[in-house]
Amino acid sequence: MKEKIEQILNEVKNFQAENKEALENFRITYLSKKGIIPNLFADFKTVAPELRKEMGMRLNELKNTVSAKVEEQLQRFETQSSSDAGFDMTMPADEMKGSRHPLSIVRRDINEIFEHLGFTIAEGPEIEDDFHVFSALNFPPDHPARDMQDTFFITKNPDVLLRTHTSSIQVRTMEKQQPPIRIIAPGRVFRNEAISARAHCIFHQIEGLYIDENVSFADLKQTLYHFVQEFFGEGTKVRFRPSYFPFTETSAEMDISCNICGGKGCNICKHTGWVEILGCGMCDPNILIASGIDPEKYTGFAFGMGVERIAMLKYGINDLRLFFENDLKFLEQFELS
Ligand code: DAH
Repeated sequence: MKEKIEQILNEVKNFQAENKEALENFRITYLSKKGIIPNLFADFKTVAPELRKEMGMRLNELKNTVSAKVEEQLQRFETQSSSDAGFDMTMPADEMKGSRHPLSIVRRDINEIFEHLGFTIAEGPEIEDDFHVFSALNFPPDHPARDMQDTFFITKNPDVLLRTHTSSIQVRTMEKQQPPIRIIAPGRVFRNEAISARAHCIFHQIEGLYIDENVSFADLKQTLYHFVQEFFGEGTKVRFRPSYFPFTETSAEMDISCNICGGKGCNICKHTGWVEILGCGMCDPNILIASGIDPEKYTGFAFGMGVERIAMLKYGINDLRLFFENDLKFLEQFELS
């Protein structure tokens, strides 16, 4: 029996089917119910007990080799038939179809700039509670942003809602992690607003948070200045105006010189030469305390920007609704990858 198995093994190893029929015949000869291999398994009963272990192994090896051979040859015929049809389905595509959405391009580019500075990407849920969106961020109980008109509530009492800003990810990160914290948090946000050229009920923000020992307003300015030079180009000017956010103290808004008219004055910048691009400030000690971080030891800065707004300024787009309509004429203007 041993010689027989060796001999069949050699035959099988060298077998090359000329066509699918030959392969099918081969399969029937060896593997079908009355084929060579089931016959050998039937003969196995007559093998002397001391040889059984070895014979069993050899028989199994033979069976596996035949099955693998059939599979391999079948694959060969299948790739052949797709190339017979004029193309090889296994080849990589030589031309990319479709383009990236401008919001994806902008989000990717912004993320990359901050990643080079050592920030990592953080995420949080879109469905949130009052604590993470408002209370932990120092919003007073009667703050207008909590009003039903701005926030989409899923349930009241307990409040379950769609986040109105990505600042909730600051809270989620601080709860999980002690400083140093250096995160950038992109995400979708929701506000109960009428849809127009300048507003939408769904849009995107990117949040930044940096907490460590001795973080100062100078660090905030330098980081954002670097971002603007990288994203909008060398020579873009920035200015900071005092502002108010419940979760930062000092708070500011940052403007850049209008990149549409180069600062000369146009419709986009309302003839001022400046456009606002983000809100920022030093983290209020109260929000550090709310998330379990010692404000005596650590300070931090935060910033938040609207991705649609940045994309509109970058590409000179004047209607926010274009981002959501998926009109091919609009989308085709953007880069492929
Ligand atoms: N969350 C603010 C908004 O939606 C944006 C913002 C402002 C985020 C200042 C910040 C910040 O982190 O420091 O309008």
